[in-house]
Amino acid sequence: MRFDILTILPQLLDGPFSASIMQRAQDKGHLEIQLHNIRDYSTNKHKNVDDYQYGGGAGMVMSIEPIVAIIEKLKAERNYDEIIYMTPDGQVLEQSTCNDLSLKENIMILCGHYKGVDERIREHYITKEISIGSYVLSGGELAAAVVVDSIVRLIPGVLNDETSALTDSFQDNLLSPPVYTRPPEYNGWKVPEVLLSGDFNKIEAWREEKALERTKQRRPDLLK
Ligand code: ADE
Repeated sequence: MRFDILTILPQLLDGPFSASIMQRAQDKGHLEIQLHNIRDYSTNKHKNVDDYQYGGGAGMVMSIEPIVAIIEKLKAERNYDEIIYMTPDGQVLEQSTCNDLSLKENIMILCGHYKGVDERIREHYITKEISIGSYVLSGGELAAAVVVDSIVRLIPGVLNDETSALTDSFQDNLLSPPVYTRPPEYNGWKVPEVLLSGDFNKIEAWREEKALERTKQRRPDLLK
């Protein structure tokens, strides 16, 4: 799977993609990530990538020309399954979207800044607009890192324990049950007896009950 990320701040994304699961996925050949600096495609002598908005008002708008230049260049090289724009007014990211996107081959992601991109980019190129939550970040880069991470861990072979992504919170619209590890008692705080019983059926029943209880308490909206 390949991601092409269009950004004015590529250095913000060096860290998230060069450790742990993301780095391993690239080393194993499951994942390729290319960062593209939008500024490199500016033909303006000051290398500007933004301009004042028509109609007046505070805040700059990302210009159409450098973004079109890079999107057209990439599209001539391969077919993209999705061209995603990271924006707080997009569709809020859900596990089901991550699952769908993990089946794709080539994804382009455009990171917004300032007031956002010229609307004509959204109308003519963007196939999906994603928000990672109802708050505003200073740019789309960290949101793009969240999206890529949530997808990459679902690619078969990326996680060591192949089943573990399936038992994540949200995969069955339930939050995960509590988990424990050794020691069985610490400071008088005990691990629930059933988990030490070795009775697989009882343990599964307990986990389901706790997952449901936790979901009812914290995220009743998931049960609707
Ligand atoms: N850019 C700024 N805020 C964002 C958000 N919440 N989600 C996605 N992109 C963003």
